[in-house]
Amino acid sequence: MAEAKSGQIVNVMKESRLFPPPPEFAAKARIGSMEAYEKLYKEAADDPEAFWGKLAKELHWFKPFEKVLDWQEPFANWFVGGQTNVSYNCLDAHLGTPRQNKAALIWEGEPGDSRVYTYQMLHREVCKFANVLKGLGVKKGDVVAVYMPMVPELAIAMLACARIGAIHSVVFGGFSAEAIADRNNDASAKLQITADAGWRRGKQIPLKVNVDEALAKSPTVKKCIVLKRIGCAVNMQEGRDFWWHELMAKASADCPAEPMDSEDPLFILYTSGSTGKPKGVKHTTAGYNLFVKKTTEWVFDIRDEDVYWCTADIGWVTGHSYIVYGPLSAGATSLMYEGAPNAPDEGRFWEIIEKYRVNIFYTAPTAIRAFIKWGDHWVDAHDLSSLRLLGTVGEGINPEAWMWYHRKIGGERCPIVDTWWQTETGGIMMTPLPGAIPTKPGSCCKPLPGIIPEVVGEDGKPVEPGNGGWLVITKPWPAMIRGIWGDDERFKIQYYSDVPGKYLCGDNARCDEDGYYWIMGRIDDVLNVSGHRLSTIEIESALVSHPAVAEAASVGRPHDLKGEAVAVFVTLTNGFEAGEALRKELKGHVRKEIGALAVPDDIHFTAALPKTRSGKIMRRLLRDIAAGRETVGDTTTIEDYSVLARLRQDED
Ligand code: WTA
Repeated sequence: MAEAKSGQIVNVMKESRLFPPPPEFAAKARIGSMEAYEKLYKEAADDPEAFWGKLAKELHWFKPFEKVLDWQEPFANWFVGGQTNVSYNCLDAHLGTPRQNKAALIWEGEPGDSRVYTYQMLHREVCKFANVLKGLGVKKGDVVAVYMPMVPELAIAMLACARIGAIHSVVFGGFSAEAIADRNNDASAKLQITADAGWRRGKQIPLKVNVDEALAKSPTVKKCIVLKRIGCAVNMQEGRDFWWHELMAKASADCPAEPMDSEDPLFILYTSGSTGKPKGVKHTTAGYNLFVKKTTEWVFDIRDEDVYWCTADIGWVTGHSYIVYGPLSAGATSLMYEGAPNAPDEGRFWEIIEKYRVNIFYTAPTAIRAFIKWGDHWVDAHDLSSLRLLGTVGEGINPEAWMWYHRKIGGERCPIVDTWWQTETGGIMMTPLPGAIPTKPGSCCKPLPGIIPEVVGEDGKPVEPGNGGWLVITKPWPAMIRGIWGDDERFKIQYYSDVPGKYLCGDNARCDEDGYYWIMGRIDDVLNVSGHRLSTIEIESALVSHPAVAEAASVGRPHDLKGEAVAVFVTLTNGFEAGEALRKELKGHVRKEIGALAVPDDIHFTAALPKTRSGKIMRRLLRDIAAGRETVGDTTTIEDYSVLARLRQDED
């Protein structure tokens, strides 16, 4: 094990498997070799402004930009003086080309209903809805709040906002009335868009009921548009609430896209901060659009004949960037699914892949761990031979879960792009380009062209190679966060103060001798055992490599001698028994995999781990439980409160 200097994190993970890009894949890929990647990377690093300036010509410009970048740390202005429109680049740009009649969106509802929109059809709906918004008084610069199920109208609403220069703030459909109201008030939203209800695991989610409660506390929101998704009874407030279909019936389909300045805001997206007050991450027009288009093309290597499916919810950044804006500006066919992966049964995702002959599948490690837990027979019942590329996002993936994904879903023929990025980065920052970069299970591999990462210690200086530290990005990139809505000071402090001049992302990472990056988890989650700083993911990956373990979370709890002891929470694969014997076996397993230092002092077996609504394990809450403390921090983003109660019960 490497000895780390103070402030650095020890690396205990041994992972030496390497999977080169399949030659058939590489032969057709946009970036088809390591040499091609390195050449592009060097070109971007040598002169980032020339690099991005050249690529930006791929967007439609109402007025050309005069300067590529004006960097007033920490505020970036990209493509200064230019005017473009994201909705134009996603829709109008494909009209009059062979893409106009290709499927832009393929949608599958949870009950099994489905719809397809070609680029022309989507363009028409977006123009009409843009006129609906205008008709209700929405103007350029107004904030429109969106709280909808995963239906095509959600994408239509976003694109319509972008078309007229309104700023959308999409709030995930699983959030409470309180959370909607908080965000509406923070953003001074003017209009709300919602639906009567949405489907989730066969149940109706009462969206309009939540909105009614939220709007009672959102004084800036004067009007509300309601989509009839389910047809259940809802309260419609005279003068405030309007039916989507009634407004659309009267709307004109003629609505030219508004020329927008490059730095005009496109959207706000709230992400949970550790302090509880949600942060409205601001993204703007041209830089974001360019970056999500190029990363979609590079990373997913999308071709015109592909069906591409990102399983994220549009309420998260992954859905914004890689269901809507990236794929549509790249002219791709983007599949959208409304419901849960286990509705009506655990084979639903595989059924959808088979039904639409999906070629590219992008999902989250939390979903992959659930698939493993549910058992292979769900997968075996379907034909997945259409798949040619797989991706992951949202958390680190444990190498054994990666191997399962590779074997079971990818049939050992599909490259896996483990994509590291954040709401704040707007788009993918690090990943193995599928035709160029050999993959290592558990590593997000290499930065994309134009992205310059570095791993530093708490003194801001680069750490020794192989050791962990804070991950920073040293140069501005086009889709970077432009600020926290209404709070420039918080933006500076959070991202541009601890390491001056560099973007501090809040994750730990290490870079190995091949220049591959390994994300080690959030800075706040590091364990400190006998003066050694350990990363959560490495202990968890060691546990998950045992066949009994489906999912694991590791945290530190106070310990008199060691500073912190290692406590782990483990969920088991179906068919395995919790108990003393397994506890002993797992300790031995961790000792063998990574060494005595990381052997858990406590192993808690649990039926489920507390997660955010986007599927990330909430280690912060587990720390409280492991230490026997009351939960003090913010719990509003937790997916299922009962998990916490059950975990506490297990302690008795
Ligand atoms: C984590 C999601 C390891 C990380 C796009 C990051 C990852 C946070 C990966 C951002 C990955 C995301 N490997 N960790 N491939 N992708 N993360 O804002 O901690 O919801 O900072 O954006 O998720 O989450 P967010």
